[in-house]
Amino acid sequence: MTRLGILISGRGSNFEAIADSIAAGRLDAEIAVVIGNRPEAPGLEAARRRGLTAVSLPSKGLDRQIYDAQLLPELKRHAVDLVCLAGFMRLLSGLFIREFPNRILNIHPSLLPAFPGLDAQHQALEHGVKITGCTVHFVDEALDSGPIVIQAAVPVREDDTVESLSARILAEEHRIYTEAIRLVTTRAYAFEGRRVVFR
Ligand code: GRF
Repeated sequence: MTRLGILISGRGSNFEAIADSIAAGRLDAEIAVVIGNRPEAPGLEAARRRGLTAVSLPSKGLDRQIYDAQLLPELKRHAVDLVCLAGFMRLLSGLFIREFPNRILNIHPSLLPAFPGLDAQHQALEHGVKITGCTVHFVDEALDSGPIVIQAAVPVREDDTVESLSARILAEEHRIYTEAIRLVTTRAYAFEGRRVVFR
């Protein structure tokens, strides 16, 4: 069974949605470890409450390479097959990415390549798009840029605030992260340029 390593920085609702999918039998995988780079991340506490292995590995003040050199052995120790970034607010080094080739997923709250980076929902509102959404993609060395596994569209309403829009996007995030993990763990796929083509 695929062993997931989930990296978080905060609330951890995407992590919890994945854990719920596994518990409900909708996803055939197990969570080997949840690692948080901020000791106060509520998601770490949620992981402990669920009886999962939760590791606090603070990144504050550490260079990317130095931090990643601590992260890697932690994931290897727990025999992680697939790394899932779930609100993990750090870029990973090439060193890290090469250790998990095509085995790192990230979720982002926009229809990439629109609105990468921070505050994607705010960016979407400011730009005036009528449709936004969320994306699960493979991670490469650039920000929010790797090949796309799955996306979901969310219409923007005239009266939307960042909060209301974020909440509707988040509901779709929770749905598609499970779907993305299921796809990459159960289906054969190939990369054709940037495209991820499922067989
Ligand atoms: C989500 O919107 C995710 O797309 C973004 O950060 C947020 C994390 O939320 N990268 P949570 O910690 O999973 O609740």
